[in-house]
Amino acid sequence: MTILIRGGTVVNADREFKADVLCDNGKIIAVGDKLDAPVGAEVIDAGGLYVMPGGIDPHTHMQLPFMGTVTQDDFFTGTAAGLAGGTTSIIDFVIPNPQQSLMEAFNTWRGWAEKSAGDYSFHVAVTWWDDTVHADMGKLVNEHGVNSFKHFMAYKNAIMADDEILVKSFARAVELGAMPTVHAENGELVFLLQQEMLKQGKTGPEAHPLSRPPVVEGEAAQRAIAIANVINTPLYIVHVSCAESLDAITRARAHGQRVFGEVLAGHLVVDDSVYKNKDFVQAAGHVMSPPFRSSQHQEALWQGLQGGNLHTTATDHCTFCAAQKAAGKDDFTKIPNGCGGIEERMMVLWDAGVNTGRLTPSEFVKVTSANCAQIFNIYPRKGVIAEGADADIVLWDAAGTKTLSVKTQFSKGDFNVFEGRQVKGIPTHTISGGKLVFKQGELMAEMGAGRYIKRPSFSPMFHALNKMRA
Ligand code: URP
Ligand code: ZN
Ligand code: ZN
Repeated sequence: MTILIRGGTVVNADREFKADVLCDNGKIIAVGDKLDAPVGAEVIDAGGLYVMPGGIDPHTHMQLPFMGTVTQDDFFTGTAAGLAGGTTSIIDFVIPNPQQSLMEAFNTWRGWAEKSAGDYSFHVAVTWWDDTVHADMGKLVNEHGVNSFKHFMAYKNAIMADDEILVKSFARAVELGAMPTVHAENGELVFLLQQEMLKQGKTGPEAHPLSRPPVVEGEAAQRAIAIANVINTPLYIVHVSCAESLDAITRARAHGQRVFGEVLAGHLVVDDSVYKNKDFVQAAGHVMSPPFRSSQHQEALWQGLQGGNLHTTATDHCTFCAAQKAAGKDDFTKIPNGCGGIEERMMVLWDAGVNTGRLTPSEFVKVTSANCAQIFNIYPRKGVIAEGADADIVLWDAAGTKTLSVKTQFSKGDFNVFEGRQVKGIPTHTISGGKLVFKQGELMAEMGAGRYIKRPSFSPMFHALNKMRA
């Protein structure tokens, strides 16, 4: 398929400029002035529109078995919803059960993901430790294109990684040139506070944020940063939700440590008042970890994004319906943790970020696509409109409006954390792997069209760091 995007304003992380963009056979083959349309090419008039690299969501959970149930969106419906929102690639998570082989879990997830409509890649979680985990990490990096490993510092008695696992796994990641990532919450403290809440008779969703206060996140972020510092590895902290963990990142970076922070669209615009809703479905629909925070934390997160101490925006897309959330009707600790957002992330970021002057269009591209591609080593294949890059492109109408709602979402499930939010700035067309998959509200996602994206290890950077240490 050949597509010529004519007359738009290309926005990359470094600049914007007027240019036509020619795509053929899945790649961008030319970016320039007044390009000729090859015979048979589909010509899209992008006059008045921005032409940007497709979004990359570095944090999703499609078809995730979690807390006794499985998320609503599978790899097809979830990635298709992403395409409708301008997101063309995801990095999802392989999460082995403790004692399960990493390779076995990886192969299972690869099978599930074959139906993806958009491109996908995997972080692999280290949930336990022995020699086979050490060996499998090597295989994943050297043979399967995995360059990041995830550690859940929360979820005690399930997938939590204690300090011993963090130390061993971070050290192994350095050897391999892979990036450790963490969900930073002190799982022991969360467990203790959950028991306290239940003892006090606080069994509803309003107790969820009380059991996971910012200090619990800040401590874990600081601890992971300290471990990374001693082991001399870069570190990526997922879903930073509060000033305490952002401060830990900011301090570390000020001292020259290479620490990256991810923030969720939801944490930027949804506040913790949602847990006070007396309607269980509404309050439980927002139960995720870390929880939504107060507006002071939201302001801090925006400042972190603007100031360059937070680098990527994600969603943690992890959808459960009301019937699934009802598992925690009498005990908030049993409410499956997770919320959606893959379809809305780019619109929410544009509306609350660009329209308010917090982000320029180029900064928007940085935090929705380019930075993620650079941090996870798939740039410039992804994250830029340039000759030779994958033809993953979103055409953006900065004047277009939409009301976000469960009634109109493509994502499966019966809940939307952005319900009723009006946004200005919407995708009009999405091109994924060179194919037009979304046009003016019509989704043409194709099951299985997405490709597994291998991410090479970071050998040169890691070697440099190790030399400095020696
Ligand atoms: O509540 C959340 N975030 N659910 C998904 C698992 C995780 O912690 O990322
Ligand atoms: Zn998490
Ligand atoms: Zn997650």
